[in-house]
Amino acid sequence: MKWLSAAICLQLAHALAGAPPPYSNVARQSPNNSTPPPDSKEAFSPPKYPSPWMDGSGGWEQAYAKAQAFVKQLTLLEKVNLTTGVGWEGEACVGNVGAIPRLGFPALCMQDSPLGVRFADFVSAFPAGGTVAASWDRGVWYERGYQMGSEHRGKGVDVQLGPVVGPLGRSPEGGRNWEGFSPDPVLSGIAVAETIRGIQDAGVIACTKHYILNEQEHFRQPATVNGTFLEAISSNVDDKTLHELYLWPFADAVRAGTGSIMCSYNQINNSYACQNSYLLNHILKGELGFQGFVMSDWSAQHAGVSSALAGLDMTMPGDTAFDTGLSFWGTNLTISLLNGTVPEWRLDDMATRIMAAYYFVGRDTASVPVNFNSWSLDTFGYEHPYASVGYGLINQHVDVRAEHALAIRSAAARSTVLLKNTAGTLPLEGTEKFTAVFGEDAGDNAYGPNGCPDHGCDNGTLAQGWGSGTASFPYLISPLTAIQNELLQNGKVVQSVTDNWAYTQVQALARQASVSIVFVNADSGEQYIVVDGNEGDRNNLTLWGDGDTLIKNVTANCNNTIVVIHSVGPVLVDAWYDNPNVTAILWAGLPGEQSGNSIADVLYGRVNPGGKLPFTMAKTRKDFGTDLIYTPNNGDNAPQDDFVEGVFIDYRHLDKYNIAPIYEFGYGLSYTTFKYSSISVSKTYSGPYTPNEGTTAAAPTLGNFSTDPADYQFPSNLTYVTAYLYPYLNSTDLEKASQEPDYGQDGWIPDGALDGSPQPRIAAGGGPGGNPQLWDTLFAVTATITNNGTVAGEEVVQLYVSLGAPDDPKVVLRNFERLSIQPGQSATFTADITRRDVSNWDTESQNWVISEYPKKVYVGSSSRKLLLSSDLSF
Ligand SMILES: *[C@@H]1O[C@H](CO)[C@@H](O)[C@H](O)[C@H]1NC(C)=O
Ligand SMILES: *[C@@H]1O[C@H](CO)[C@@H](O)[C@H](O)[C@H]1NC(C)=O
Ligand SMILES: *[C@@H]1O[C@H](CO)[C@@H](O)[C@H](O)[C@H]1NC(C)=O
Ligand SMILES: *[C@@H]1O[C@H](CO)[C@@H](O)[C@H](O)[C@H]1NC(C)=O
Ligand SMILES: *[C@@H]1O[C@H](CO)[C@@H](O)[C@H](O)[C@H]1NC(C)=O
Ligand SMILES: *[C@@H]1O[C@H](CO)[C@@H](O)[C@H](O)[C@H]1NC(C)=O
Ligand SMILES: *[C@@H]1O[C@H](CO)[C@@H](O)[C@H](O)[C@H]1NC(C)=O
Ligand SMILES: *[C@@H]1O[C@H](CO)[C@@H](O)[C@H](O)[C@H]1NC(C)=O
Ligand SMILES: *[C@@H]1O[C@H](CO)[C@@H](O)[C@H](O)[C@H]1NC(C)=O
Ligand SMILES: *[C@@H]1O[C@H](CO)[C@@H](O)[C@H](O)[C@H]1NC(C)=O
Repeated sequence: MKWLSAAICLQLAHALAGAPPPYSNVARQSPNNSTPPPDSKEAFSPPKYPSPWMDGSGGWEQAYAKAQAFVKQLTLLEKVNLTTGVGWEGEACVGNVGAIPRLGFPALCMQDSPLGVRFADFVSAFPAGGTVAASWDRGVWYERGYQMGSEHRGKGVDVQLGPVVGPLGRSPEGGRNWEGFSPDPVLSGIAVAETIRGIQDAGVIACTKHYILNEQEHFRQPATVNGTFLEAISSNVDDKTLHELYLWPFADAVRAGTGSIMCSYNQINNSYACQNSYLLNHILKGELGFQGFVMSDWSAQHAGVSSALAGLDMTMPGDTAFDTGLSFWGTNLTISLLNGTVPEWRLDDMATRIMAAYYFVGRDTASVPVNFNSWSLDTFGYEHPYASVGYGLINQHVDVRAEHALAIRSAAARSTVLLKNTAGTLPLEGTEKFTAVFGEDAGDNAYGPNGCPDHGCDNGTLAQGWGSGTASFPYLISPLTAIQNELLQNGKVVQSVTDNWAYTQVQALARQASVSIVFVNADSGEQYIVVDGNEGDRNNLTLWGDGDTLIKNVTANCNNTIVVIHSVGPVLVDAWYDNPNVTAILWAGLPGEQSGNSIADVLYGRVNPGGKLPFTMAKTRKDFGTDLIYTPNNGDNAPQDDFVEGVFIDYRHLDKYNIAPIYEFGYGLSYTTFKYSSISVSKTYSGPYTPNEGTTAAAPTLGNFSTDPADYQFPSNLTYVTAYLYPYLNSTDLEKASQEPDYGQDGWIPDGALDGSPQPRIAAGGGPGGNPQLWDTLFAVTATITNNGTVAGEEVVQLYVSLGAPDDPKVVLRNFERLSIQPGQSATFTADITRRDVSNWDTESQNWVISEYPKKVYVGSSSRKLLLSSDLSF
């Protein structure tokens, strides 16, 4: 979700006014046949219709039955209400659809963010997704999800807008990578599934986002750039890369039962994500069998009929651009049903999917009324903030944090990665005579922890990025505060310099210290806020605040310098990491509200670090192999981002080109050491892989509706709220009511789009996430891991597979387990290898196949420490 500045709003409104009619983007998809327009050299997304209707399979049976029973009672207008947001700042949440007053059904509330409740008080600020990824701990992910879900539930939220697996993190510069987990699809896929289970077990619908290939902030929206109007960037990807990399974690999200999925801003193969029939109809609802609903990102919908036919189910925040009072749906969706361009079964399917998600997570019993307001923290204010209507109690300041701070502290400590530790520098004893702490990143933000709107600044210690993916801190424990607390109780000396440029003072203090701890950072966020010239995406991979110079000024004067990095992803450390005076390095990510306590737990040895890097730290920016598009590259047309590297991102790229990283994917040290031995692989019988076959049932229609426009007019007694969106018509003349300049001139409907008859099933489909046989276990792997050090520790044991073909990565991560082992003891690592784990996507048969190439399994402590191996014989 996003928030636009007024200036961008105007640009967007202008762009839309001059934009082509609603079918334009279907037209671009060559609706009447499956080949690209002959004059087009651009990437092309094939049309796929009709939009699959949900059938309640794969564990959704009960939710489906309840949803159908509910939707059967609804009128056409009530169904439209469920699908359309009431407009930006129309109600308390960042997104709200219409209510069904006749049945006493309250309006659904959608609220950011993937790391907590945005725009609310008395909530927790959890560690970011990209930080907890480094724990490689399923329990941490589930618990964080459950606690975030509980907080949303307590505030009255129906849909938490998270977790994130798009961006996946193709390039480390991507501004929102930290909201997601990891550029590795398996690590991301397992993390997203556990998070979804946690959120939904707490009775709140998860919204997995942003589907799909939303890999950069620059050009994500249509906008006027240097006087030229440009459509949003097109991420151009091939079928194999889509399946083996970017779609993979979304498949896991669907398999985990995500109630909703948010389509993204960008285009994919030159078709907007929220009206891309190939990706929504064919891939998501067809092949992956997604049973929940597709919600648009905020203002990511660009057409009414086209998006409905392409598989969108809910538009957010509902208006064509913020607060126009107009919508591609609402009134227009009612009209589309009356003029026959959207079939009744499609609207019924939208409403059923929304209600099925509601029942699937148990909202019928978990729901409480919304008791906060996104647009003001005051107790009294407006119920309809944009219109300034309905003054009254808007905030009950309900404290929903429970004991979550304990888990937040522990999750961040367990996600901290120890990158360097010379001669057992860490853990510190807490008895050091003189500790010096350096860096703005060690201290507080002078403006307060929430002093910059949506955290759009890099002041004080960095504990989350910026943009809509944030939550208000209830407090933020800085590293300096926690280190002081630690040392003062031992009666030691601790002093700090938190001005990164006060070199004289830095040098003087470093000379006195027995140990120096330098805190440095690198930030990024969402495009609508520019911080230090970074439009969401990072302009470079170096440290902010001239961190390199700060570190060097300390190391020049102190031979025991510990560096702690708070960052959104990889940073370049080449300038100092191997300086012998740098005796330890920790990567602490974006730890959330307990930041200082979490890092103190690691520094002083209460927590033995067991985190592993969820990305590569390469030597140079170029070594990552991919980068963003910062300037238009296609004249007056949408910038084109060709994903030419295929599946070779992050470690797969460095492995392919034999580039040595500084710290590889999966790397991380402990205060103890581990020995790996005795790999054993046993083959598990499972039958042959059979394609999903047959045909679906016909699309159900739930009730009848009148086609007389007179039945859909604004009720005479309705009090119209300014810029609010309703399902009603203000004229019995449909064209007039639509206020659409090009009404009825669309000329055609894509072939098959209105067809509700039984459809052929997709071979690679058949269950949530794809063909259920993809999760058959083919091999069971075990290995022995021994703690041969002197302290208890945790080791993330990683299983990699080499798929063997010349165009496959050297190895790909396929499983892992975090083991807790006492000194001198051994533990058994166990992991399954599924059919999916050893398959490639075959573009010919449009299915997963196990290639004839010889395959191997590796068990190791990182992507480059593949300590044990065995052949896989089929
Ligand atoms: C649609 O939702 C709005 C806003 O909640 C409500 O005022 C209106 O009564 C609803 N219309 C119908 C037909 O339920
Ligand atoms: C209907 O949609 C069109 C764009 O397709 C828009 O121009 C018009 O304002 C919308 N009408 C209403 C009543 O929201
Ligand atoms: C805080 O951040 C703002 C916005 O980035 C910046 O202009 C300002 O100089 C910073 N102030 C301090 C005290 O760091
Ligand atoms: C990289 O970007 C940061 C943040 O804008 C800035 O402080 C730093 O100077 C930049 N580094 C280089 C080498 O330009
Ligand atoms: C300390 O900082 C200054 C910047 O004023 C820089 O010129 C100098 O090289 C730094 N010292 C070291 C040892 O890096
Ligand atoms: C670091 O410097 C201190 C004195 O400043 C000295 O006692 C110590 O031996 C040095 N350590 C190393 C590893 O050089
Ligand atoms: C390491 O620190 C000592 C001071 O303890 C200093 O004399 C020496 O030059 C430093 N070495 C480097 C490589 O910075
Ligand atoms: C806009 O034009 C200026 C001047 O030619 C150029 O420096 C800048 O990079 C352009 N911006 C974009 C986003 O292309
Ligand atoms: C408006 O009138 C309808 C029927 O005439 C009635 O059902 C509804 O409750 C009224 N709504 C309001 C807000 O008075
Ligand atoms: C049907 O209604 C929709 C929504 O107003 C409009 O976009 C479309 O042009 C209309 N089509 C026909 C054939 O009337």
